[in-house]
Amino acid sequence: MKTTQSFLALAAAAGPSLAAKSLLATPPMGFNNWARFMCDLNQTLFTETADAMASNGLLAAGYDRINIDDCWPLHNRAKDGSLQWDPKLFPDGMPWLGSYLKQRGFHFGIYSDAGNLTCGGYPGSLGYEEIDAATFERWGIDYLKLDGCNVEPFSAERYREIYSHWHDVIDRMSKPLIFSESAPAYFCGDEHGNNTDWYDVMDWVPNYGELARHSYDIPVYTDRTAWRGVLTNYAMNTLLARHQTPGFFNDPDFLIADHPKLTLTEKKSQFALWCSFSAPLIISAWIPGLDKDMLEVLKNERLIAINQDPLALQATLVSQDGKWDVLSKSLSNGDRVLTILNRQAHDDKLFVSFERAGYSADSTGAQKYNVTDLWTGASDTSVTNGVTANVPSHGVQVYRISPLSGGGDSVVPTGMVFNTATYKCLTAGTDGATVSLGNCTASDGQVWKFGGDGSVRSIAFPNNCLGAESNSGLVGLKTCDGTPRKEQQWQYQTTGILNSGVGGSCLSAGDNGSVVIKACGADFNKQVFEMPSGSLSTYSMF
Ligand SMILES: *[C@@H]1O[C@H](CO)[C@@H](O)[C@H](O)[C@H]1NC(C)=O
Ligand SMILES: *[C@@H]1O[C@H](CO)[C@@H](O)[C@H](O)[C@H]1NC(C)=O
Ligand SMILES: *[C@@H]1O[C@H](CO)[C@@H](O)[C@H](O)[C@H]1NC(C)=O
Ligand SMILES: *[C@@H]1O[C@H](CO)[C@@H](O)[C@H](O)[C@H]1NC(C)=O
Ligand SMILES: *[C@@H]1O[C@H](CO)[C@@H](O)[C@H](O)[C@H]1NC(C)=O
Ligand SMILES: *[C@@H]1O[C@H](CO)[C@@H](O)[C@H](O)[C@H]1NC(C)=O
Repeated sequence: MKTTQSFLALAAAAGPSLAAKSLLATPPMGFNNWARFMCDLNQTLFTETADAMASNGLLAAGYDRINIDDCWPLHNRAKDGSLQWDPKLFPDGMPWLGSYLKQRGFHFGIYSDAGNLTCGGYPGSLGYEEIDAATFERWGIDYLKLDGCNVEPFSAERYREIYSHWHDVIDRMSKPLIFSESAPAYFCGDEHGNNTDWYDVMDWVPNYGELARHSYDIPVYTDRTAWRGVLTNYAMNTLLARHQTPGFFNDPDFLIADHPKLTLTEKKSQFALWCSFSAPLIISAWIPGLDKDMLEVLKNERLIAINQDPLALQATLVSQDGKWDVLSKSLSNGDRVLTILNRQAHDDKLFVSFERAGYSADSTGAQKYNVTDLWTGASDTSVTNGVTANVPSHGVQVYRISPLSGGGDSVVPTGMVFNTATYKCLTAGTDGATVSLGNCTASDGQVWKFGGDGSVRSIAFPNNCLGAESNSGLVGLKTCDGTPRKEQQWQYQTTGILNSGVGGSCLSAGDNGSVVIKACGADFNKQVFEMPSGSLSTYSMF
């Protein structure tokens, strides 16, 4: 286990300094065969997919990666120890395929495994890391997805040894591979409900690569349900927003753009949510067969722009109540994204205030906004208080909100604070004094704003600050002091802790829904929270 000191060091090390040398400034876009074809792969599938992407506009829209998944090699390595492609599947060979793709403007990516067998039972890379890296380089490959099946003994420490070794090998290459790490996926959803190892792995993967395949596989083509799986991967992603930085991306898995169990509305929703997350946009579908409607969705340049925004922020939850999820994030030009998911079995409408979308409350009403519907491109400058979204069942609406000059409005990190082990929301009591962890209901008492001075206040009681009493350890609300006392100052860390100004104490789930401060541990279920994007950088007490 890490000590308090080492996790503080880790939080600092995982900060923006890494982004500067990242190989991947914005999330990757492209194709992978797995969810659509699984082990039914061959050379023709990849050449026909690339040809189709070049002619149907997907390549021009930014989808420039062709990635091969499991089941491509022979079962035996060559005499010199190198991996060999299966010549029945790839008669012209990988170097030929690599140059075919490169000539048409694509990057070429491949799959291997950290253990000694892949998930499909083909040779894994354990003990052959240098040889395999050299082979991939020779074949013109620049992207490696390293899966985590068959790693023994099964422990977070063993995964760390192997993935950090791969990092060292890749780092020594003349052109380092983009490194997609599946390690965290092997630690999510612990059967005992203990997330410690998952959090621990998520803390270190940013030090070694560019992408975290963090949770369950997205439903494959033959799965009999798909919407529930999309929502599961979406939900897992909302638990990890704190880890994403420009250059390091949480990967909730493929866009299943021709899954037979998804409606067009549901496929659009997956795309819109993944765009809002700045998640990888890797399509797993039979691309030559995509219909015109779906191609238009995947090529929507307004949504791609928020996915590829240089800030690369992952939208975070503003509210959630079982019917609606509302998310938002900032864009590099100062605009806000507002994303609204209707989980209900019927069409419905929802009003979301500009304050909830992340702007400071405008008491004068002078601030004007330009609200653009990113599906249609239609914009509206007549609204002053917020946005009313009409959203079909299982649909997602996404808006880009630009403040127009005149009001002097500013962006404040705004939204839910929730425990990522229990999904319980930090809730201001109606008395304006007590605080608890309760079911998420989207009430004003569950929408929190993070001030640049370390203060945390719900929009229900804007003059009351979240505070910790050093004697009792109980957390509650009190009138904000002009200059916040240390009891009213908080600092959020990449590890998910909310550090209190009361030295070395962290926000913790107490008994019976109470909220307390306790000595900070590392990766404890009771101390890991998600907060609005931007709250990581608002206030520094160190
Ligand atoms: C290649 O794979 C695709 C997808 O599974 C399949 O439809 C096609 O028949 C295969 N072609 C060859 C030449 O094996
Ligand atoms: C797999 O790797 C382990 C070490 O992690 C080794 O002990 C075992 O013999 C290997 N199995 C095979 C089939 O190579
Ligand atoms: C949770 O898992 C970690 C790492 O495996 C372990 O050290 C810790 O004791 C576990 N906590 C509980 C409450 O079981
Ligand atoms: C509002 O935004 C749209 C694009 O999102 C733009 O075309 C339009 O000019 C903007 N309107 C104003 C008044 O700025
Ligand atoms: C919270 O939600 C759970 C599960 O939906 C429910 O059983 C419980 O009664 C709710 N608690 C309150 C206080 O509403
Ligand atoms: C929590 O609630 C239960 C049931 O109401 C009660 O028996 C217990 O004493 C409470 N625990 C604390 C620490 O308040």
